[in-house]
Amino acid sequence: MKSYRNKKLIITSNFIQLQGYFTDWFVFLSHIKEIMKYLFILAAAFFFSSCGGTKKKEDTGTYAANAVQKTPLEQSVSRGKEIYGELCVTCHLPNGKGVPGAFPPLHPSDWLVNKRKESIHAVKYGLKGEILVNGMSYNNVMLPLGLSDQEVADVMNYTIQKWNTGAMVTEEEVKAVKK
Ligand code: HEC
Repeated sequence: MKSYRNKKLIITSNFIQLQGYFTDWFVFLSHIKEIMKYLFILAAAFFFSSCGGTKKKEDTGTYAANAVQKTPLEQSVSRGKEIYGELCVTCHLPNGKGVPGAFPPLHPSDWLVNKRKESIHAVKYGLKGEILVNGMSYNNVMLPLGLSDQEVADVMNYTIQKWNTGAMVTEEEVKAVKK
C-alpha cells in the first residue's frame, strides 16, 4: 500500500512537472507573437534603411544624368541670363552683338576675355573713354548698373560662358575689384 502511494505521488509530481513544462512552453508560445513582431520590425527597419540608402544614391545619379541638379556655374549663368535680359540687352542687344561704333559687342569680345579685371570693373562701376573691341574703337559711356557683387559675377558668367570662354567669376573675385 505504502509503495503504491509513493508511486502515485511520483506520478503526480511528474505530471505536475510535465504540466510546468507545458505552461512554460505556452508562455513562450504566447510571447512568440511579440518576439516575431519585434524581429519583423527590426528586419523591416534594416531593410528600409539600407533600401533608402541605395535609393538616395540612385536619385543623385539620375539628377546628375538629367542635369536637373545644376553646378554652381550653371546656376550663376542662369541668374546672369535674367540680369542680361533686363539690363544689358538694351545696349548690347539680345544676341550680344551690340551696335558697331556705339555699343561694343559681348558676342564675342576680345576685351571681355583679355581684360577680365577691367570687364568686372566696367560692369561694377561703369566705363567711359576710348576702348578697342575686336579691332573697333568705341568712345562712349556705360553708367554703373547698380548690381550687387553676386549679380555682377552672374552676368559676367553668362556673357563669358554663352559667347566667350573663361573661368567662372565668383562673388569674391568681384568683391576684390576696387574702384
Ligand atoms: C546704356 C547702355 C549700356 C548698358 C545698359 C550696358 N552697357 Fe555695357 N557698354 C556700353 C558702352 C557704351 C560700352 C563702351 C564704353 C566705352 O566706350 O568706354 C560698354 C562696354 C561694356 C563692356 C566692355 C567692352 C566689351 O564689349 O567687352 C562690357 C564687358 C559690358 N559693357 C558689359 C555689360 C553688361 C554685362 C551689361 C549689363 C549688366 C551692360 N554692359 C549694360 C553700354 C551699355
